[in-house]
Amino acid sequence: MIEIKDRVRNSALQAKITTAEAAAALIKPGMNLGVSGFTPAGYPKAVPLALAERMKANPFQINLWTGASVGKELDGALAEVKGIARRLPYQTNDAIRKQINSGAIAYTDLHLSHTAQMSRYGYLGGEVDIAIVEACAITEEGNIIPTTSMGNTASYVQSAKQVIVEVNVSQPLELEGMHDVYVPLDPPNRLPVPIVKVDDRIGTPYIPCDPAKIVAIVPCDIPDAVRPLAAIDDDAKAMSAHLIDFFQYEIKNGRLPKNLLPLQSGVGSVANAVVCGLVDSPFSNLTVFTEVIQDGMFDLIDAGKLDFASGTSLTPSPEGLKRFYANIADYRKKIILRPQEIANSPETARRLGIIAMNTAIEFDIYGHVNSTHIMGSKMMNGIGGSGDFARNGKLTFFFSTSTAKGGDISSIVPMCSHIDHTEHDVDVFITERGVADIRGLSPKERAQVIIDKCSHPDYKPMLQDYFDRAKAATKNAHSPHIMEEALSWHVRFLQTVTMKK
Ligand code: COA
Repeated sequence: MIEIKDRVRNSALQAKITTAEAAAALIKPGMNLGVSGFTPAGYPKAVPLALAERMKANPFQINLWTGASVGKELDGALAEVKGIARRLPYQTNDAIRKQINSGAIAYTDLHLSHTAQMSRYGYLGGEVDIAIVEACAITEEGNIIPTTSMGNTASYVQSAKQVIVEVNVSQPLELEGMHDVYVPLDPPNRLPVPIVKVDDRIGTPYIPCDPAKIVAIVPCDIPDAVRPLAAIDDDAKAMSAHLIDFFQYEIKNGRLPKNLLPLQSGVGSVANAVVCGLVDSPFSNLTVFTEVIQDGMFDLIDAGKLDFASGTSLTPSPEGLKRFYANIADYRKKIILRPQEIANSPETARRLGIIAMNTAIEFDIYGHVNSTHIMGSKMMNGIGGSGDFARNGKLTFFFSTSTAKGGDISSIVPMCSHIDHTEHDVDVFITERGVADIRGLSPKERAQVIIDKCSHPDYKPMLQDYFDRAKAATKNAHSPHIMEEALSWHVRFLQTVTMKK
């Protein structure tokens, strides 16, 4: 058995050290499990694997509440045995996605800043029955030192009837001190979140926990199943170059300070590539107030360009994780991990005036954004934190390549097949083709700029033709559409992609 006694500093709690199987046996069918983990970082592994084995022998289901996406030992293992009835608030796992889109899993796709409070308000179908938390260590007082993510863990621990702690010895003890745990009071007692600078500390470096609630402590040595990032291609480089030009234009016009404003950058390869591009930019003394800290942020720290980054999880690639662990003493001086309720807090994002940069699946000529659905029906991942930041940023960008699926699909369409962010939430669109600055424009002005600057040459004439005919058909109405045609583009795309399969 893996030795964890030196990491369980409360001697009375050492009596609770047990096996993953014994801990998994405490979980009953239909329970709401509130688990740690945010993007495959800091999630429990040993107990979910043991739970999946139990479910394989004796099928039953639970409801899984996380911070965001988690790794294969949790989402993957439980999906394989069809062990999840309801999943929230975000996921990126192929097996889970299939079960969501076949109706086997009820998926509640939530703004990530909302999840913890919604669970406390009792809106999510009962209370947290058991919180399962990955920890670096447990303190003398029984408080929990989290690992590579904060997510919703503190709130789940606070509300849970029972807590299972997985002490993961693959997580370095140097992580201790990187967290800033603050769970807001609920209305009518809520106070302002007292963050005025990205590096402000407002809470404790541990998750407060009544030791009496801890029912099992399980050793684990399985590392986070972090994912590789796609190579930075020419399209990503072009988008990054457009962004840097745009920032320079804003600085020249007195709308941004020289070191910009706190940057938020979304998940995925495009978002990471855009941040990497800032390494060779003229900007320095940058700050970050974001959700996920990906490799690009380490590049910026190493280049001496980034003063401080606040996030809720460390989501590097496998190489990035090695790099982080090797230089943890330096990185930890510049990184803080907060609960997602605070990292993504709309109040704080608005106060700090963040620059929100997220990726769209598609956007339409009037500026609405689809971040979640493929062809209107199929869930991809979820809205994640994009809405928390997009609505509340000082400057909100959405990025996308101008086409998808090797050019068979235009990412710019007459009408989005699903809308996550409205025309009221976006300031600037960037594709590899160019920049559409739609601030202050009317819908028809927006449409022209988006078609001109962002669309792919293969689709530009079609978009222009649709827009011109829509204006004529509606006698120049406010947001002209030919309703019977607006979504026919998706039908055509779907036919093309299906035919090629
Ligand atoms: N029509 C159909 N499919 C499309 C598409 C479109 N217009 N645009 C993208 N896709 C498909 C891609 O082909 C790819 O499919 P595959 O997995 O079968 O290869 C998939 O969607 C993902 O696209 P990809 O180009 O790999 O982009 P990405 O890794 O940068 O992710 C999002 C893009 C939008 C899916 C991702 O950023 C996301 O989930 N965003 C929502 C949450 C969010 O913004 N969180 C950040 C808050 S901090």
